[in-house]
Parts: sequence; C-alpha cells; structure tokens
Amino acid sequence: MHQKISGRILFGEDARIESALYLTAKYPLSRAGDVSKISIEYLKRGWEILNKIERILLKDEGIRKWVKAHGREQLRQIIANAIIERGIRAYEKEWEELKGKDIERVVRSAKAKGKIVPPPAIANNYLGQQASKLIKKLLQEEKEVIIADLGCGSGGTILPIISRLSPEERKKVRIILIDIMKKGLEEAAEELQRLGLSQKQIHIFRINLADIGKNRKLISTFGGKVTLAVSGAALHHTPDLKSEFAGIKKLLKKGGYFLFWDWMHPAWRAPRLLAAPLGYRVEEHGKILVARRKTIEAPKEHAYLARAPMKGAKKAAHELDAAREILSYWITLLGYPEKEKERFLRFFDKEIKKGEPIDFLEFLKTLVGVKPPAGETPFYFWEGHTTPDVYVNALAKNGFKPLRGKRITGRRITHSPLLYFFQAMA
Ligand SMILES: C[S@@+](CC[C@H](N)C(=O)[O-])C[C@H]1O[C@@H](n2cnc3c(N)ncnc32)[C@H](O)[C@@H]1O
Repeated sequence: MHQKISGRILFGEDARIESALYLTAKYPLSRAGDVSKISIEYLKRGWEILNKIERILLKDEGIRKWVKAHGREQLRQIIANAIIERGIRAYEKEWEELKGKDIERVVRSAKAKGKIVPPPAIANNYLGQQASKLIKKLLQEEKEVIIADLGCGSGGTILPIISRLSPEERKKVRIILIDIMKKGLEEAAEELQRLGLSQKQIHIFRINLADIGKNRKLISTFGGKVTLAVSGAALHHTPDLKSEFAGIKKLLKKGGYFLFWDWMHPAWRAPRLLAAPLGYRVEEHGKILVARRKTIEAPKEHAYLARAPMKGAKKAAHELDAAREILSYWITLLGYPEKEKERFLRFFDKEIKKGEPIDFLEFLKTLVGVKPPAGETPFYFWEGHTTPDVYVNALAKNGFKPLRGKRITGRRITHSPLLYFFQAMA
C-alpha cells in the first residue's frame, strides 16, 4: 500500500486517486490547463485542494486503514507531492506539444512586434543590461564565467545578455541551458552559435526546474561552479518552489549571483477573491485580515486582496490592481475578443465596489456563448504565479543573501503591474 500510494508511483497508476484529483480539476491532463500548477502554498490554503482530496480518499476503507498505521500527516504529504507531480507533468506535456508556429507565438511572444515592445521583452532587456554589466565586471578578474539560464525557452532571456558582450567576452562564457522543451533548447543553442559561441561553450539540460538539485549529471559537472544564474518568466512553472530554489543554490558557487524576473500577482490565491476592507492588513497569503486587535479569517475557498502594494517588492502595484490586470489578460489569452475583456473589467470593478467576491472560474462560464478561435485552449488555464513575498521568503529560506541593503526585495521593472526583477547572492 505504501509503495502504491507514495510519490511518483501514485500518479496514473492508482485510478482511484487519479479520479479523486479529477474531481477537483475536471479536465484531462493532456489539456494545457490544470489547477495543480498553482503554487502549493495557495493550493493548501485558499483552494483547500489538500483537504478536498483527503476527504475523498478517506472514504476508501483501504486508505483509512493505511492512515491508521502511518498517520494523517503522511497522507497529506503524499497528496501534496502528488499535486506537485501532477502540476509538473501537466506543464511538461503542454510545452512538449508546442510545435512550429506555437513556439513562436507562446514562447517567443516576448519578441517585439513592430514598434510595440511587449512587457516581457522589456523585462528580458532589463535583465540583459543588468546581467551583462555584471559579466563584464566579473571577466576583468576571472578567465571564465559559467552562466545557467533556467527555463531558457528559445533564448528570450539569454540572448539579450550575450548580445551585449563583446566578441572577446563571448569567448569567455559557458552557458548551461535548462528547459523541458526540446525544440526551445535547440533553438536557443542555435541562436547562441549565431552570436559566435562554439558548441563546446553550450551545455544543454532537458530537465525539470524542480529537479535541478537532483540531476546527477548537472550537479556533478556544475554543482557549486556556476557564477551567474538567470531566469525570465520561468520559475513559477513548478508548484514546488522549495526544491527549485534549493537546486539553484546547489548549482551556484558561493558568492554566485542569481538574477531573474517573473510575473507576480495575488490572483491565484483562491478561487474567490475579496477586497480587504480599508484599514486591514492581509496576512497568510490572503487568508487572514488583521487590524489592531482584530483578526478575521477568510471564508473557505476565499482569499483577501489588500488595498495596499504587494509585499516583497519596491514600487509594487496594489494587490487589487495586479489581480485585475492578470485576470483580464486571461480573457484574451483564452481566445475571447477584446470586448469580453472590457466586460470583465466592468464586472470586477462593480463586484469590488459591492464587496462581493470575484469568482473568475464562474465568470469564465458566462463566456461560453463566445466561440474561442479554433485551436485555442478553452478553459482553466492557470499558472503558478505568486506574489513577490513568496519568492523573497523562498530565497531567504534557502540561504540567499541580498546584493544590496539588508533584505532581498523585488522591483517592478515595466509599466505593467505584473513584472518584477529580483537579485540575490548565494
Ligand atoms: C514563458 S517561457 C520563458 C522562456 C524564456 N526565458 C523567455 O523569456 O523567452 C517559460 C519556459 O519555461 C519552460 N518550463 C516550463 N515548465 C518547466 C519545468 N517544469 N521545467 C523546466 N522548464 C520549464 C518552458 O518550456 C518555457 O520554455
């Protein structure tokens, strides 16, 4: 029983548990979207997925017996591992299935189209400036700098860094490309060679971001040797930030740098979002309101959004604004026309004014009459975005230090309320 229920083995092999998971996410794994991609912190609290699955599993007599022998906590841990595993597999499948034009559209959406530079391209350019400055400085003292790009895609993040180096400097770097998408890795390597790098300077690792620290080949070759780790819009792609950041720390040498940017907002905290009343602080990922001597707990499957900037970053947008922006994005990302997005924004403002919760999944159902363009993913396409404080805490817990000042903080880098840049030292 233990073997059957634990970790990876559990997945796909135990039909009961599989179907229990489906009860909470009613779409096949082969679809792009999956609620289990959401950060495990949010799934435990706001989404209550752990409790729901536990209740379903405990209806089974065999599982009840198992719990008697091993304890409830162990069952909860196994469920958490299973959710994480499912989230990762869903992503793997999603990216693996991308072909030709899809790659161009989804992964390279960061490429400037005409004169309009999309926010992700601004963020990659910003990271390019910061990282290339650092590499130039390091190369004054070191013969070689090893750089790891985590979730490199087809090169949207690494190329703006390397293209800022001189031909001489380009000869002195080695690049580790990490991603799960084969096609993206191949394209990134080709583009780097076009910038003058030799094949020998490029190391490709087709692995999961959550497995960096566990990959023998990667760690035995490069563990403790990487001077700079970079990442753009990728770290949220595993629900397991703990393993991810621990793995990155293993890769970096002591005093090595970690520069990255990502999407940040509080909208995935729970299925139903409530605006915090004025004068209250929001704690515990939206689950608790605090004012002087009073604390209020959010109802089940609800989370609060603060009427204050997101914690953990400078110049951060207000939580409400960030959530409003990302949810409205999804309307168009799901293939619905602009006017549906406008309708959502009106709905959001009206509900917040009335003090009613925003239930985005319910709102999506009102879009049923609108036919999304063929080939687009229909519903429930979630990602693992969190707020900046979640990254700041994960970095601190894994022993990362601030580059400047006393604490690590993110920084908003574009006009968008959603994109933040972080830097830390191993
Ligand atoms: C939004 S793209 C960003 C690519 C690139 N950094 C850029 O800015 O153009 C996210 C990348 O993360 C990769 N990815 C998603 N989940 C992953 C996982 N669990 N492990 C490794 N890579 C993953 C995807 O294949 C994709 O290339």
